[in-house]
Amino acid sequence: MLIYYITPMPNFYATTPIYYVNDRPHIGHAYTTVLTDVLTRYHKLFGFDAFFMTGVDEHGQKVQKVAAARGISPQEHVDEYSEHFRNLWPKLNIDYGYFIRTTDAHHKKFVQDSLQHLFDKGEIYSKEYSGWYSVGEERFFDENELIDGKDPISGRAVEWINEKNYFFKMSNYQQRLIDCINENPSWILPEFRKNEVLGFLKKPLNDLCISRPKSRLSWGIPLPFDQDFVTYVWVDALENYISGVQNKKYKDGSPLWPADFHIIGKDILTTHCIYWPTIIMAMGWELPKHILAHGWWLIDGSKMSKTSGTGVNPMDYIENYGVDVFRYYLIREMVVGLDATFSHDSFVRRINSDLANDLGNGLNRIHKLTLTNFDGKIPACAEHGEQEKELENLCQKAIDFTKKNISEAKLSLIAEEILNPIKALNRYLEATAPWKLAKSTEQKDKDKLATVLYAGAEVLRIALALLSPVIPQKAEQGRLMLGLPEFSEESLKFGLLKGGEVLGKGEALFPRIQEET
Ligand code: ME8
Ligand code: MG
Repeated sequence: MLIYYITPMPNFYATTPIYYVNDRPHIGHAYTTVLTDVLTRYHKLFGFDAFFMTGVDEHGQKVQKVAAARGISPQEHVDEYSEHFRNLWPKLNIDYGYFIRTTDAHHKKFVQDSLQHLFDKGEIYSKEYSGWYSVGEERFFDENELIDGKDPISGRAVEWINEKNYFFKMSNYQQRLIDCINENPSWILPEFRKNEVLGFLKKPLNDLCISRPKSRLSWGIPLPFDQDFVTYVWVDALENYISGVQNKKYKDGSPLWPADFHIIGKDILTTHCIYWPTIIMAMGWELPKHILAHGWWLIDGSKMSKTSGTGVNPMDYIENYGVDVFRYYLIREMVVGLDATFSHDSFVRRINSDLANDLGNGLNRIHKLTLTNFDGKIPACAEHGEQEKELENLCQKAIDFTKKNISEAKLSLIAEEILNPIKALNRYLEATAPWKLAKSTEQKDKDKLATVLYAGAEVLRIALALLSPVIPQKAEQGRLMLGLPEFSEESLKFGLLKGGEVLGKGEALFPRIQEET
């Protein structure tokens, strides 16, 4: 009897933060969402059943305030502003699986059920409380956390508030959380953020205030056990990661939760690495597998945020230079974890050198030389010599590097590595001078020309496949231009072209950005 073993498809579920709808999306939101999209696309390329969720955080005081200022109801405001986010994603080639809104009925029910469960288990109690509250960050700060008496994250004013509230016994989970972080060294990434969380956990952890009195804030999910209160917006928001995929399954029938990656900015590290895991522990749910915090995009030295209006609007670059070029810049320019500065000069430099000079040039040369010398068909390789083996090795290195580093989302390093075989290809073209070989009548030169164009097409095929998660449209256009087969995990190997593949139409995929002087 024959038994067929089918290798199960590995699964992957990632999330972005759900963004506040008190203002329009900016480069910070665009970045996190592009990063998550790229990471998910890489997993798809490598054969995963991969899915990611994004969405909007619609409750809380910020939203209530803006709606009041606009003279409309919070619901009208969020209905309008959630569309600014939803409409932006197709413009950025974002291929999300689900867009969650925290005003969705199923989400509200999920949050209420979980709070009732915690209340019944004795994990929630009420008491009088006073503390410093930041509307900007929607949370209380301890006196010693304030910087110059202000919110340590946004630098804005805090208010002293005294009121009855409900508390979750977060302090009971302090040791379990510390143990969990120590036992799973790659749970919080990058490592220095893990250390920051461990540092924070050296002080005794307070219990978490999970309610707001309706007298002060009415725009939220009512507490199921006390109708005079609504749920603290962070508890409501964090639970989206599970509520949003509750009714979904992977192709193999298994549930999506626990998530493989929560991708966040460093501003919301505490809420994700302390509040969320302790709520999960109390609920008896499974923990997410990784929490990855990236740094901030800065413009003129300050954090790009909705409330600060700076001169350059990075979002204009999508329309002005094209979506894939914009995605490439974001991914290549920010080392995941560190801050990066968005500037026009660095944008032009990066795009002109990596995409116009290296990738675009290589692509145009191979296309043009194949068109004129081999009737628009990729020639078969005549001899796989030393030079070609070196290109093959660089391609293999880029493939291995990408596969290895994707597990920690080191996307800027991956993009850098993939450019190596392309740069080597351009050097190889300079060294072998196929335009000269084309003029020769000797057989050995004709053979070498075939070899050069074949090797060139192979380098481009692999590099385009590896870059396709970052620049999906351009990679596909490049693929059609060279008449290459569709990208897949199995095709990530040098030497698979047979010769005879028919080229498509030539296009300048990456025009140089010409600067006015
Ligand atoms: O915090 N650089 O929403 P938010 C890089 N609703 N990323 C940035 C950025 C910048 N200058 N500015 C913002 C919230 N971001 C909550 C989240 S999740 C359960 C609830 C990105 O609209 C980054 O991902 O303030 C940051 O963590 C997020 O936007 C904050 O978005
Ligand atoms: Mg914020």
